[in-house]
Amino acid sequence: MRWLVTGATGTLGSYLVHELAMSERTVQGWSGATAVDIDGIAVKPVDLTDADAVTRAFRAARPDVVVHAGSLARISDCLRFPDRARQSNVEGTQVLATLSAKRGARLVYVSTDLVFDGRAAPYREDSPTQPLSVYGRTKADAESIVHSLSNSAVVRISLLFGPMRNQRPGLFDWLAEALRASQPITLFADEWRTPLGLLPAARALHALGRSDFTGTIHLGGPERMSRLEMGQRLARFLGVADTPLVAGQRDSAPGAEPRPQDVSLDSTLWRSRFPQIRLPDFESALADMLK
Ligand SMILES: NC(=O)c1ccc[n+]([C@@H]2O[C@H](COP(=O)([O-])OP(=O)(O)OC[C@H]3O[C@@H](n4cnc5c(N)ncnc54)[C@H](OP(=O)(O)O)[C@@H]3O)[C@@H](O)[C@H]2O)c1
Repeated sequence: MRWLVTGATGTLGSYLVHELAMSERTVQGWSGATAVDIDGIAVKPVDLTDADAVTRAFRAARPDVVVHAGSLARISDCLRFPDRARQSNVEGTQVLATLSAKRGARLVYVSTDLVFDGRAAPYREDSPTQPLSVYGRTKADAESIVHSLSNSAVVRISLLFGPMRNQRPGLFDWLAEALRASQPITLFADEWRTPLGLLPAARALHALGRSDFTGTIHLGGPERMSRLEMGQRLARFLGVADTPLVAGQRDSAPGAEPRPQDVSLDSTLWRSRFPQIRLPDFESALADMLK
């Protein structure tokens, strides 16, 4: 099978390319602007907002499976640049979907728990979507495009955690460093997700790409956790004795867009359809990623 990963230089995409490179014969990766080599796979820039460039690159790639993880994925960037968010996340997905359908390629679209409003967790695949942010709205609109394809899957992923593989320091690396340096950090005690490790998420996407599953599926970790609890458990895992963590409240930090309070995902469907791909708890995932 010929695999194509968009967003290959990203937090998730770099894990996925690493995972695929170990066992798949042909793996190609696209980024937005960065040309890099990941485990012998040459990742090339193909801007999703440039339909002609995407079409040319897609025809050259001739993929059988496309895992579409490329996205303007920062909530704050989407709010600041809503047109660009729509062009890359919605229109870019439309171009890829049309090309995939024409070629008969399987399309796996990576979506997010932030298509929900956070008032009715835990969310199942058939729960109504109600995004609160520009980011969430673009992801929900892209989901609708992908649903119209016959051989496609939408996978809604929860908050991901783990060390970055792409040399770009992320929130997790920053938090681990701050904990080790005993810097005081405030984390919300009243906002919940079902966090999932980046490595198990990449393995799950691999399995989903190889499968014939169609429709929407949720992919979250087995535990509902606040951001504060994530920090506390990370501190314990790292052996930081005096945790300098402060419990914050969402009300004390109002943002430009409302934040969903609890977007925990119910991943029962995943566990029944893909029992061989475990969704490990926080500490097991960390142990696997940091060894
Ligand atoms: N991280 C999470 O916790 C999380 C949770 C749920 C769902 N997701 C979803 O998972 C996917 C990957 O997220 P991530 O955290 O890995 O994001 P990320 O680290 O911000 O990476 C985004 C990727 O998309 C590429 N990209 C951005 N704009 C592009 C454009 N116009 N054309 C082509 N490529 C473009 C970037 O390439 P360059 O770096 O070269 O610009 C990069 O490879 C996204 O669809 C996101 O919605 C993430």
